[in-house]
Amino acid sequence: MEIRQIKELIDKATAARGFAYAPYSNFLVGAALLTCKNQIYTGCNIESASYSPSNCAERTAFFKAVSEGERDFLAIAIVGGAKLSPVKQLCPPCGVCRQVMMEFCDVENFKIILGISSEHYSIFNLIELLPMGFGPKNLALEGN
Ligand code: THU
Repeated sequence: MEIRQIKELIDKATAARGFAYAPYSNFLVGAALLTCKNQIYTGCNIESASYSPSNCAERTAFFKAVSEGERDFLAIAIVGGAKLSPVKQLCPPCGVCRQVMMEFCDVENFKIILGISSEHYSIFNLIELLPMGFGPKNLALEGN
C-alpha cells in the first residue's frame, strides 16, 4: 500500500471516531475500510444501555459496506482510545471483529492498520491477528 493511502485511511478513521457513541465505556473508536474498488467506508462504535447490542467501529464499517454490495476489501484502519485523552496506544480489533474480517477478506493479504496518528501506526495481515481462524473455506464441502 502507498503511504498516502495509509495516511488517508487513518485520517478517515480518526474523523469517524468523532461520531462514536460510547457513553458507557467512554472509549471512542473509529475505523475506515478500503474496498478493492478504492471506496472507503467508515464506522464508529455504537453502545447500548443494555450493553450486549453494542457494535464495534470495525463491524459498523464492514456492515455498512456489505449492505451496499461490497464484498472485496484491501485494508482497514482503526483508531481508538479513551475519550478524555489523545490517542496514545494501538487499538487492536476484538475477536468478534477479526472473525467478521475472516468472512470477507483474504487472510494473507488483508491489512489491518492500527493507528495512533497518521505518523505513528503499525500494520498487520489478518493471518497474524487471527492465525488458524475458522472461515468460509472450512465449511466448503468436497464438490461444492
Ligand atoms: N471497540 C471497538 O469499537 N473496536 C475495537 O477494536 C475495540 C473495542 C469498542 C467496543 C466498546 O464500545 C468500546 O470500544 C470498549 O470496549
